[in-house]
Amino acid sequence: MKIARFSRIGFILAAAGSAVGLGNIWKFPYIAGEYGGGAFVLIYLITVLLIGFSIMIAEMLIGYLGKRDGVTSFEELAPRNKHLWKFGGFQGLAGLFIMIFYSVVIGWIFHYIVTSITHLPTNVQEAETTFNAMLHTNIFTQLFYHTLAFIWITYILTKGIKGGIEKMNLVLMPTLMIILLGMFAYAVSLDTFGQAVDFMFKADWSKIDSKAFVTAVGHAFFTLSLGMGAIMTYSASMEKGSNLVTNAFWVVFLDTSIAIVAGLMLFTFLYQYGSGPAKGPGLVFISLPAAFYEMGIIGNVFAVLFFIALAFAGLTSSVSLVEPMVQYFMDRFSWSRLKASISMGLFFYLIGIIALLSNIDGYKELLTWGDKNFFDWVDHFTAAIMLPLGGLVMAIFVGFVIEKQRVESVLRPQLGFAFDTWYFSLRYITPVAMFIVMLSFMGVL
Ligand code: PHE
Repeated sequence: MKIARFSRIGFILAAAGSAVGLGNIWKFPYIAGEYGGGAFVLIYLITVLLIGFSIMIAEMLIGYLGKRDGVTSFEELAPRNKHLWKFGGFQGLAGLFIMIFYSVVIGWIFHYIVTSITHLPTNVQEAETTFNAMLHTNIFTQLFYHTLAFIWITYILTKGIKGGIEKMNLVLMPTLMIILLGMFAYAVSLDTFGQAVDFMFKADWSKIDSKAFVTAVGHAFFTLSLGMGAIMTYSASMEKGSNLVTNAFWVVFLDTSIAIVAGLMLFTFLYQYGSGPAKGPGLVFISLPAAFYEMGIIGNVFAVLFFIALAFAGLTSSVSLVEPMVQYFMDRFSWSRLKASISMGLFFYLIGIIALLSNIDGYKELLTWGDKNFFDWVDHFTAAIMLPLGGLVMAIFVGFVIEKQRVESVLRPQLGFAFDTWYFSLRYITPVAMFIVMLSFMGVL
């Protein structure tokens, strides 16, 4: 089947749309806060540059050469042992699993857009009570917005690469950047901006232990959308003759700058109007709304804009999380796009309801095993196992399985003298790093 191709800018924005997600605006600031800022940020930046960038190129290459869904691409590029290697393509499943909780979180964000219009919590305690009430008791609200997220995402997927994914990213990504830059400009004008810069860039190594290290590496992966077939699947629709290295550069650059801009802005607001760098997942849902309240009327406007930007970031990532499996069913089973999109949508939607219920009092007990409820298990399982495994497979596949001439013929002209360094790092550095991350997440190290 003939697939539609992205335009050049369409591809960059779609891949950046995949990368820039809840990971950048929601997760990055709070984990940076948790691990004391500077040193953690530095480890994250180095990982992004040394490992992230090189896997991004590798993942793009598989898609670009394979031109099909992940499974078929792996099969076609493996000179021997197709039957084994095709399983590499199933990393797209990780995306669907992530969507189980990602869609629920997008639902919370939708809800926050609406409540920010009418009412901001007047202090952190109130903000915390409101958030917990939503999370632990309010099934209806969460279900309503989770349904909305499901409908939006599925609808875009049914419209395909050009008319759905590209079109949405062309609108949502620039809007998101304008909103963030506007709010960032305001943050720069506040006295506490310098404090935020210090916090993010002055390294305090005392907070860094092996856990911080692994979290930084794991996050670099998550935020760049690597190891899940998202970038690979989009790259199958890249224009012929595209420069993978410049494309990868743009995606990494946009993703990293947006995380830094969001972090600096949020920390400035929290220093100025709140209680300083907050920790934990409640940062944007608890500490931030309370800080917005302190800002006065402009805080209301900012709150609404901020949650809209966050929703946009989440939605553009979501479609990329589901598209690999949509593409798989279309290519391998000749399903129509409509059928594939709705089926995959229903998959994450229905299981997402279980994830949602696993936070609700009364159901929680049933849906908790060990120290985690279903929601947290899905998060942990995907981040700890599926994602590093995906990265590992990808690095080994491009580093050792695809014939070197094939890799070289595309990438040597684009990478120039850096080709050998890239190839070496892909073969030896990345797999070891991924393996360590995996072991340590699983608690073996
Ligand atoms: N990169 C996205 C984020 O930062 C999440 C994501 C991971 C999207 C993997 C697609 C694939 O939120």
